[in-house]
Amino acid sequence: GDDLAARSGLLPGVGGTRFVRACLRRPVDRTPVWFLRQAGRYMPEYQAVRRHHTLLEICRDPKLAAEVTITAAEKLDVDAAIIFADLLLPFDCMGLDFEFLAGEGPVIHKPVRTAEDVMRLRTDRASELGYVAEAIAKVVAHFKDRLGIIGFCGAPFTLASYMIEGGGSRNYIETKKLMYRQPDVWRRLLDKLATVLREYAAQQVEAGADVIQIFDSWAGALSVEDYRDFVLPVTKTLVREVQAMGVPVIYFGVDTASLLPAMRETGADVLGLDWRTPLDVAWRTLDYSCAVQGNLDPITLFAEPELIRTRVRQILTQAEGRAGHIFNLGHGIVPGTPVENVQHVVRFVREFAAEAKRG
Ligand code: CP3
Repeated sequence: GDDLAARSGLLPGVGGTRFVRACLRRPVDRTPVWFLRQAGRYMPEYQAVRRHHTLLEICRDPKLAAEVTITAAEKLDVDAAIIFADLLLPFDCMGLDFEFLAGEGPVIHKPVRTAEDVMRLRTDRASELGYVAEAIAKVVAHFKDRLGIIGFCGAPFTLASYMIEGGGSRNYIETKKLMYRQPDVWRRLLDKLATVLREYAAQQVEAGADVIQIFDSWAGALSVEDYRDFVLPVTKTLVREVQAMGVPVIYFGVDTASLLPAMRETGADVLGLDWRTPLDVAWRTLDYSCAVQGNLDPITLFAEPELIRTRVRQILTQAEGRAGHIFNLGHGIVPGTPVENVQHVVRFVREFAAEAKRG
């Protein structure tokens, strides 16, 4: 409400970047646009940095992380910059070793499976994550108020799934086994994660992040009932705590069509939408009670510009010019995506806004 607006430096109806205004469902001159995974392997400038550094080296070096963040946002001319980091960074300070194996994604060598494993996890060393906040401060110093700066963290469920499975998963069998069979251990694990994530988010807000995005990328693996019983309470608390720091929260997941009303109960200001549900249908399901971000299929970026243009227009038409739409993909840009097609999307979003004004 207005309390949040005041705390984020936004007087009702006045000021703020286009992106932050849209998060708060304030009117904007045109729909803001940015891209999930906008800095990454599809971009030659990132590949050049990556030739000399590992992913984790880039994440842990504020100068490099800021540079990669800034380069991508400027090259794409988007309305928001998301800090270059990774979901799994907090594992380090919790005492969980992991690495990224080429072509395989993240690997956690000793997955969390028992009450003892959960007990061993540390929650008192979040200050070790300060390099992410340092990178944010550099990005804020660079852009000033020209665009929105997004900090992020994983959601308790999605991070727990990596901890328990030891990496990505198809069926989440170990995760759900722990959740169903040892619900008190499950709750302790999610509480520990939330403790660290709260402090990590606070560092990012302190450093100048305008918005925090919470990635619950794999929440779509849950039934509505399991989501409500095992995930919603701790997530809702985290969302409220981050909002109390004075910034809007974007809560994101994939394959979440049936979960959206329950995800809305977290109280997040913005929900991420994937492409499997038309934006108008999803937003109506939510009674337009929050802002929405999405929802172009990232693989559309491999199509000819004319088809991309058509899909962008369809999404903007479905949004009906309502306050509270942030244009984005339904999930991250994948390696191999032609950069010029991402730039086309930015142009198409602006072109349509100009037309809508004229028309
Ligand atoms: O601009 C940006 O969005 C980049 C910053 C960013 C990274 N990871 C860097 C990264 C962000 C926002 C993330 C979040 C992240 N990390 C998520 C949630 C987002 C989503 O897609 O749902 C998840 C699930 C992770 C965990 C993770 N990190 C996986 C599964 C992988 C391997 C998959 C892959 O694409 O290879 C990573 C590696 C990773 N994180 C890369 C980047 C740029 C690619 C690896 C590299 O550069 O070596």
